[in-house]
Amino acid sequence: MNQMELFPYVAAAYAESRGDALSNGDLYEQVAVRAGLSKATLDAKVPIGQAQAMHRPVPRTIRWVQQTLKRMGVIERVADEKGVWRLAEDARAKLKRVETGAKLLAFSTDLGVAIWARAQDIFPHLDEPIALCVTSPPYPLRQPRAYGNPTEAQFVDFLCEVLEPIVRNLAPGGSIVLNIGNDVFLERSPALSMYAERMLLALHDRLGLSLMNRIPWVNLSKPPGPTLWACVKRVQLASAHELVYWLTNDPARVRADNRRVMEAHTARHMELLARGGESRSAVYGDGAYRIRPGSFGQKTLGRLPRNVLIKGHACADTRAYRQYAAQQGLLPHGATQPTSIPDFFVRFLTEPGDLVVDPFGGTARTGLAAERLGRRWIISEWILEYLRGAAGLFQSAAGFSLNPALQHGGR
Ligand SMILES: C[S@@+](CC[C@H](N)C(=O)[O-])C[C@H]1O[C@@H](n2cnc3c(N)ncnc32)[C@H](O)[C@@H]1O
Repeated sequence: MNQMELFPYVAAAYAESRGDALSNGDLYEQVAVRAGLSKATLDAKVPIGQAQAMHRPVPRTIRWVQQTLKRMGVIERVADEKGVWRLAEDARAKLKRVETGAKLLAFSTDLGVAIWARAQDIFPHLDEPIALCVTSPPYPLRQPRAYGNPTEAQFVDFLCEVLEPIVRNLAPGGSIVLNIGNDVFLERSPALSMYAERMLLALHDRLGLSLMNRIPWVNLSKPPGPTLWACVKRVQLASAHELVYWLTNDPARVRADNRRVMEAHTARHMELLARGGESRSAVYGDGAYRIRPGSFGQKTLGRLPRNVLIKGHACADTRAYRQYAAQQGLLPHGATQPTSIPDFFVRFLTEPGDLVVDPFGGTARTGLAAERLGRRWIISEWILEYLRGAAGLFQSAAGFSLNPALQHGGR
């Protein structure tokens, strides 16, 4: 098994240790049980390196994961005891918004980990190639959400600080996908803020990212607003979209493949195909487009997806999350995405086994989409209640393990 395959098992072993110290011997055994490895596999020795000294590769890999968790600040060495480690943070004492520097494994599966922490405290310590970061950062709303939003003046620096270590680890051709709101108005003005334009320029100038596409998420089920400008003063149109920006560090090697997100042909197109394609000849756009008899008669993989996402907010996962959060007495998240948004980008921009991250994890929809599609994932979120509620969506995932400190609600 490779390092990233063992990662969740090591993380789960520490998460379930309740903050108690764990010796390396106990850790190896727990990981072996979780990963279904026999004692013989755990103890098997192979010659390694130039000297061909005999080593046990599985414990070696486990120690590598342990060191990665240490670098991320999730576990710490127990003073004066060699090879004994424990979780760096005891959740029982701290709930709600995480304190600067504190980190806690909230839950994990065979494919991923959800960490209660500030994104700024986690990603600078991860050194693993990231194929995709798909996230919805807190953006500068006039009426901030319960989880807190940066002001317009803070937003660009805040986002660049969080994304910089992720971009540093982005695999060549990896992508950053950002979903932010379009309804940010200047103070006492019906004019829109240009924070998104400033953000894009900063991501290009400071982090070297190239813009691959602007993909509006059209959501016709949004309640009418902005109330003052559209409903009262009547000088604005009702909002119906958010912005999704897709960027990459290397457009020439971008790891996108639209064949992974083909849509079903319309009934009308299927009829056209059955007729053998067009029967007419026509010229459009001064000769730029031509239709000839037989055009569109070839069977193709499906309909090419357009660069617009047309989706309402309704989502079975959101309903399940809210129900679970209510049962657990948790405050629900007020700004969740339907899982179909990250699902689209995870399919389009990654392959099974790739690593997908979300620094602003919320209810872990990026993790959920990645989990269902067989991608590895790491998310961070600084409000414990959201992760506690999100854990309800992963209960049937292979290897699911919830930190026992979170077992009894988040309050
Ligand atoms: C727009 S919401 C993301 C919602 C998420 N996509 C979902 O569908 O549930 C932004 C999230 O970022 C979290 N957040 C804000 N600042 C953070 C930080 N510095 N580190 C980690 N999480 C943060 C907020 O608590 C909030 O849950």
